[in-house]
Amino acid sequence: MSAEAVGIESVGFYVPRYFVDMRRLAAARGADPDKYVHGLGQHKMCVAPPDEDVVTMGASAAHLALRDVDESEIDSVFFATESGVDQSKAAAIYVHRLLGLPSACKTVEFKQACASSTVALLAARALVASGMDRKVLVVAADVARYELGSPGEPTQGAGAVALVVSRQPRIMSLEEGHGAHTEDVMDFWRPNYRREALVDGKYSIKVYIRSLCEAWKRYHAATGRAFADHQRFCYHLPFTRMAEKAHAHLVVTATGKHAAREEMGRHIDAGLVYNREIGNTYTASLYIALCSLLENEELPASGRIGMFAYGSGCLGIFFSGLLTAGYREFLHREEHLRQLRERTELSVAEYERMYHFRLPEDGRRFEVPVHRTGPFRLAGVENHQRIYEGTRPRVRPDTQSQHPVAAETTC
Ligand code: CAA
Repeated sequence: MSAEAVGIESVGFYVPRYFVDMRRLAAARGADPDKYVHGLGQHKMCVAPPDEDVVTMGASAAHLALRDVDESEIDSVFFATESGVDQSKAAAIYVHRLLGLPSACKTVEFKQACASSTVALLAARALVASGMDRKVLVVAADVARYELGSPGEPTQGAGAVALVVSRQPRIMSLEEGHGAHTEDVMDFWRPNYRREALVDGKYSIKVYIRSLCEAWKRYHAATGRAFADHQRFCYHLPFTRMAEKAHAHLVVTATGKHAAREEMGRHIDAGLVYNREIGNTYTASLYIALCSLLENEELPASGRIGMFAYGSGCLGIFFSGLLTAGYREFLHREEHLRQLRERTELSVAEYERMYHFRLPEDGRRFEVPVHRTGPFRLAGVENHQRIYEGTRPRVRPDTQSQHPVAAETTC
């Protein structure tokens, strides 16, 4: 690891404790199960219960990512989401309090569909490289939601990931140079008055691929790195078959040739394992795919990973990282596998009940029924304020309060 290396010191993800099996969903919707399982490449999708939102999921992911990290050195918390809980206040501030992070932190929320987590990560890298920040906590969390019975429904999911960026990139250093592509398109969007996204699905796939090819060309021009300089590739995964389609196009754009399925599989397959079990997590999806790659395959130190982020609307970014010797020692593989293993299956009727749940919008006090969650949950709402609570003794006592603590002005 070079003295100047900046990158990922720690990464952890969190997924809700409930899932729907895609074959059961297909049966309920009158679809061929093979379409969901093979055509889209999805086996299960996570469902967030009423007492989980992007704050609880993001805080739970960050709780894991910070396990072996000196939290006193966190100078910024960047929170990326497209299913935020407030138009004004950053979800980062709730997470900051729930985790008891230093008050000297800068806290902010980023938005550009699924790509904002990558902008946050690159901004974190720049802040740390400049010497302005020692460590930045980047959190990405989303609930992917489409209308029941729509083509988008089997591409839902929920989850969060947290990454610590620092000068001790025990897992992966983030390399200089990237390629970006922005274009004003209406492939997927969600007006403020809607809970479900609107999507032109087939068009969104085309724009994803076009953005990948344009971003790659700019990345290649900026860095001189060729396709063969990358050992593996990680993609934003709205559904896992998307990576196959995308990678086939990248191979042709970058090399002028087609690759055999076996070779393509070597490049991308280990990165698809977790997302197939979780579904789309929008901003978190690319980094859950990175966890999947690193935890399901042993790769050589200094192996280069090509990463593509896509956010509808749209922004594509291609960038890369170099694996650090001994990176496997710092992964949270067992905890991730435990979370995936210990989920409860919902019937389609139970999933639909959770889907239709709504918090009151008139400011009255309401306690959210208790479901299985991680270390944090949404306890209720009162006076239009969300009330979060810790669920386990290992959470610091100062995060247990039922109500947001208003800091007294002493100056
Ligand atoms: N057995 C096996 N495969 C089958 C099958 C069967 N019985 N029936 C159909 N299939 C295959 C189809 O051939 C197709 O595969 P190919 O694409 O390789 O041809 C695949 O299953 C899907 O079938 P359709 O294209 O007919 O599916 P659809 O029209 O119902 O919807 C979708 C697919 C457009 C992705 C839809 O799920 C959707 O709109 N999802 C939300 C939008 C989305 O995820 N877009 C991705 C890019 S945008 C992005 O990445 C940002 C983001 O996160 C949203």
